Amino acid sequence: MTLGAELIPLTDLHSHLIPGVDDGARTLEDSLEGIGRMFAEGITTIVTTPHLDGSLSRDPRSFEERLSQVDKGFRVVADAVRERFPKVTFRRGNEVMLDIPDPDLSDPRVHLAGNRFVLVEWPRLQIPPETPAAIRGLASQGIHIVIAHPERYAGHDAHLSIVERWRGEGAWCQVNYGSLLGKYGPDARSRAFMLLERGWVDCFSSDFHGRPGLPLFVDGARERFKELGAEEAWSLLTGTNPGRIVRGEPPIPVSPFEGKQRGLFARLLSRLRT
Ligand SMILES: [Fe+2]
Repeated sequence: MTLGAELIPLTDLHSHLIPGVDDGARTLEDSLEGIGRMFAEGITTIVTTPHLDGSLSRDPRSFEERLSQVDKGFRVVADAVRERFPKVTFRRGNEVMLDIPDPDLSDPRVHLAGNRFVLVEWPRLQIPPETPAAIRGLASQGIHIVIAHPERYAGHDAHLSIVERWRGEGAWCQVNYGSLLGKYGPDARSRAFMLLERGWVDCFSSDFHGRPGLPLFVDGARERFKELGAEEAWSLLTGTNPGRIVRGEPPIPVSPFEGKQRGLFARLLSRLRT
């Protein structure tokens, strides 16, 4: 398998492409412009994930209102995508902020493409106390947690050991393409590569906010992986594993980067850190 954009269809599990429901796309034209660029960079399946506060699930009326609003916006974009980009599969989920540890995530509209995987984030890009227990509680509801951009949170120790605990509770990890290229600063970039070195990343996604001029970073990340000789990992992280999540199947383990890749990583990291 080669790394040509045209040869590996990518699946993206994290984006904000429904106009007017969060800080993502503002208009349908913004959404379509962004989806066109995602397609041009090789993404053929998109599960878009508007922000949703987990605490809202404890207020049934507001929760229903919010999900209906998102459904309505989603249908408009999905109809336009079918017409303009017939080769793109467009689905929905949510990015659930765990502002309470025990939201009710049983409604399938909250799940990625309607299956049992749910994309979650921690509030204010901080890691709250007791996160492993929160994941355990949600797992006991039959929910498979996918942690959005673990590399972006403040409060990690030097070994990123909380990520190992999350994974021990059954959570999966989604790293942003932009993190690999420094979009969120050098610390997030270093953590993204450390997670890869430990084999703790299950998939990449864009977290694209659907506005003209915002870069996607997919092509840049693809080049970086080519440079690293990491074709197999690229294929798993961008195609196979997110595709499995869309089908409700667990991701395949991605080996820790080692050998040639590890040496290249070390050189790359030292270059990036200077
Ligand atoms: Fe997001």
